[in-house]
Amino acid sequence: MKKYVQKNVSDINLEDYLGEYEGKDATYKGLFFTGGRRRESLNGLWHYAIDQYEICIRQHWFEERTHSAEGFSLPQDFSFDEWPTMQLPCSWNMVEDKFFLYESSMVYTRRFTFEPTGDERVFLRFGAANYICRVFLNKQYVGMHSGGSTPFVFDITDLLQKENRIMLAVDGTRRPEQVPTENYDWFNYCGVYRDIEIFRVPKTFIKDFRIDLKPNQKYDTIRVSAVIDGAEETIVPVNALLTIPELGISQEIPVTGGALKTEIKVSPELWSPENPKLYDVTLTYGDDTVSDTVGFREIRVIGRDIFLNGKKQFMRGISCHEDHIELGKATTPESCERIFRDAKELGCNFMRLAHYPHTEMMSRIADRVGIMLWEEIPVYWAIRFRRAKTYECAENMLLEMITRDYNRASVVIWSVGNENADSDERLSFMRRLAQCAHRNDKTRMVSAACLVSAELNAIADRLADYLDIIGLNEYYGWYSPDWAKLPQLFENSNPDKPVIISEFGADALYGHHGSLSDKGTEDYQLYVYEEQIKILSKIPYVKGMCPWILYDFRCPRRTSVIQQYFNRKGLIAEDRVHKKMAYYELQKFYREKAAEED
Ligand code: GCU
Repeated sequence: MKKYVQKNVSDINLEDYLGEYEGKDATYKGLFFTGGRRRESLNGLWHYAIDQYEICIRQHWFEERTHSAEGFSLPQDFSFDEWPTMQLPCSWNMVEDKFFLYESSMVYTRRFTFEPTGDERVFLRFGAANYICRVFLNKQYVGMHSGGSTPFVFDITDLLQKENRIMLAVDGTRRPEQVPTENYDWFNYCGVYRDIEIFRVPKTFIKDFRIDLKPNQKYDTIRVSAVIDGAEETIVPVNALLTIPELGISQEIPVTGGALKTEIKVSPELWSPENPKLYDVTLTYGDDTVSDTVGFREIRVIGRDIFLNGKKQFMRGISCHEDHIELGKATTPESCERIFRDAKELGCNFMRLAHYPHTEMMSRIADRVGIMLWEEIPVYWAIRFRRAKTYECAENMLLEMITRDYNRASVVIWSVGNENADSDERLSFMRRLAQCAHRNDKTRMVSAACLVSAELNAIADRLADYLDIIGLNEYYGWYSPDWAKLPQLFENSNPDKPVIISEFGADALYGHHGSLSDKGTEDYQLYVYEEQIKILSKIPYVKGMCPWILYDFRCPRRTSVIQQYFNRKGLIAEDRVHKKMAYYELQKFYREKAAEED
């Protein structure tokens, strides 16, 4: 019996409505160097509609069809320019109460004019959108990006007109196969929450520009590399020009096959938290010039020690989420500056930006104020380690993060994940990520926040063999009651590399006091910090810590009477004003550690 399927039915009978709109993925390969370039912002008021059933894609709203092929006027289920407006970028959850827990799809649209200058390439760049963002321009599907915390770019050169309509279908849905999965210990802020910008570049332009100190322990050589898009077939060799005025460098560098790579013998003043020295650099090739402000430093592990510019370090850190009581995951320069002021006042020389790449503003400010950074991709908890597309997504996020922040002196550690249980599939997945990080950046350390082996009460994560620094999350005094096990943990372990305690801590509601048997009080949190510091400060191979966490943060998993949907392990309440007693305990320890170094 021949199977009969009715033809020419409308979208309501389409099972695979996403179909063609699942392709054209933007990846790290599409990113380009933006430093010093003119930016045309598309931030501002966008019309929007809540699109729970993804009708925009099912009915192809972006095609703006007003009549059928036969000329029949079609009823419209949208009215783009009459929709209400929302200021982008933003976390839509924070815009109106009705959106607070909304995690599905939203459609945004606006018009903009564009005056082409003729011989140019035009790119559309998003700082980040959580979680999937599909882009339509002038009724055409441009492409999509999956992943909630890294930049993505589309080449729109051939799609632009004088009058343009752009449309975004943004899907904030949590899914088991995504990175992170559908279950994580922070709030799912959705939407396009970082800048939306247009960049014009010459037909031949500087696509990637990396500059760093050669990691040779002599601090006497600067390395420069760049990829020049469009110069692959250049017949007449054209040199690039690198300038670092403060170092008296103005150097022609030959470009062959669309790339340049050179070393320059010079001994710059080195960047460090104590002396965050930065240099202005420019690179010119033909009609294109880019610039950056960079620090030169060397981070290295030797044995069980971490060295910055040849000097042993104790990483006085604190963890931090990208979570703001009013802004959600969206950020402002002021809110970022505040984080570093609080970290500096705490006595930090180090911060763990958990659990995903934060705004690029953070590493720029860290460069300037002098804080070393641990940056991380959200390969968090029960990731689908067997799923190839999940690995592709994780690796793309890692490469987007490395590509974006390569020139940031403050970034010293790339972390490939957090708290995954040790299994063969997980080891294979995470080892590949660690090797990918090492392959793409030979100047930084690779780590991950590993779990304690409960059965052995030891550091026994097999991933540690592929890391330069072992991150260890341990919650003795909170989730693990038996304090005696903490020193035993270290007696049972014998790592051949440094360990950073990437998390310890305890919940405490600011202003809530009680006896030491009352979990959730400031007194108990203080007790945990006192005991942790007492024990950890004696372990010779613990070379740093970034306790969990600087500020209380929103978390749907935390519903107790003191939590009220916040994770309250912050040393400062979510208002970023009220410091808890444990803050001062850690500050005292860090000041003593800093004094030892002087
Ligand atoms: C884990 C996890 C954090 C979480 C913390 C907690 O270590 O890495 O994301 O917030 O524990 O339980 O508070």
